Amino acid sequence: MVSNKKIIIAAVLLAALLSAIFAYYKHNQPAPTQLADITFPFVFGRFQIPQDNPLTLESIKLGRRLFYDPRLSSNNKVSCATCHKQHLAFTDGLSRSVGVSGKPLKFNAMSLSNLLWGPQHFFWNGRSPSLEDQALQPIQHMDEMGQDLNELIDELEQDETYQVLFKQAYGSINSIAIANALANFQRTLISSNSKYDQYLRGEVLLTPLEELGRKLFTAHPDTKASLRGGNCIDCHSQFLTSGFSTFYDGFSNNGLNSDDDLPAGLFSVTGKEEHRGLFKTPTLRNIAVTGPYMHDGRFETLAEVLQHYNGGIKRSKTLSPLIAEADNSPKAQQDHISLNLTPDEEKAIIAFLHTLTDESFLTNKQFSNPFNEDNEHE
Ligand code: HEC
Ligand code: HEC
Repeated sequence: MVSNKKIIIAAVLLAALLSAIFAYYKHNQPAPTQLADITFPFVFGRFQIPQDNPLTLESIKLGRRLFYDPRLSSNNKVSCATCHKQHLAFTDGLSRSVGVSGKPLKFNAMSLSNLLWGPQHFFWNGRSPSLEDQALQPIQHMDEMGQDLNELIDELEQDETYQVLFKQAYGSINSIAIANALANFQRTLISSNSKYDQYLRGEVLLTPLEELGRKLFTAHPDTKASLRGGNCIDCHSQFLTSGFSTFYDGFSNNGLNSDDDLPAGLFSVTGKEEHRGLFKTPTLRNIAVTGPYMHDGRFETLAEVLQHYNGGIKRSKTLSPLIAEADNSPKAQQDHISLNLTPDEEKAIIAFLHTLTDESFLTNKQFSNPFNEDNEHE
């Protein structure tokens, strides 16, 4: 017979052993990560962060370094920032971007801001469903960065700084961690302090020309009510001036091509004929610094863009009815689609578009190249 006393002693010893094992494992887990302290402008609406990739300070720090690191490319010369430069609101100033192959890509580099909101379908044709998914694509694309992921992981494993940063953020170096970190850094690229934002918060007034432009931008013309409008808000919606976030509502055909040369656009993703020629409605934030414009960079200036909307629209079977209908002239529209805005009204809309420039976003140190900081400290 085992006495009660012995059972109690055994139980106490067992409990002590278990708590020692527990303490040991707790000690050896990666340091607890800290959630980033970011103010999300509530007027931008709801957003979702994937549950398996919390927005921690460690992941953002790692993502920022990766974003600016040319070692992510096969020739160690092209980083994400080669085509996404902060002072150009993360575009590159080219009609069509050029990566490791030197061959111009099919598309114009997209501005990166407020990516938490707006359509969670990335790229001009919406083929990527998340920032995590998107991040690995340019790295592996032959013409963009042309990098083999396993080689990249080997390279990063040689680097002591990355060993520490990856350990703190995700435990180890792997392609999911690379994608997650890049996605999280990009989620912090929030632009909410343009003159227009300040105006909306009641902090500044617009000039009369900007104010006229704002009215035109936000109105759908109605000749019966003598309401003049540029129709822009119909697609470049709300504070974000991008498309709606639900389904593919943020995609439109804005009349760049006729049926003869209608590019695939969203059709290449959904296979639906009615999606042929539809592209993502991009945000117009910082638009004054992100030229050339449109998915193929065909317009150099905002004046050319306005000329397009005000008389250059090409008819095709998927042209947005919002564009086909919009007319400030009471005469019934025949073949030629035009908003019939006056030259002064075009200028006013351009003046309004300039109020969307957010200098603090273009110069925010937290979004800048961290390797420059390293050099400053040396
Ligand atoms: C060689 C130039 C180039 C490089 C390098 C590059 N990009 Fe891009 N980026 C583009 C172009 C061009 C597009 C539009 C491509 C398309 O629609 O097919 C784009 C689109 C994007 C988008 C989609 C934005 C939206 O609103 O849908 C994101 C996000 C992005 N890039 C992030 C990155 C990241 C992260 C890296 C580095 C891992 C990177 N890019 C590297 C040129 C580049
Ligand atoms: C029917 C929807 C729709 C309307 C109305 C509309 N746009 Fe657009 N806009 C788009 C789409 C879609 C694109 C991208 C098209 C592409 O590149 O294929 C775009 C692109 C642009 C671009 C280029 C953005 C870039 O990053 O290259 C500018 C600037 C622009 N629009 C301004 C305006 C202005 C100003 C108005 C009002 C006069 C307007 N838009 C009305 C849907 C619309």
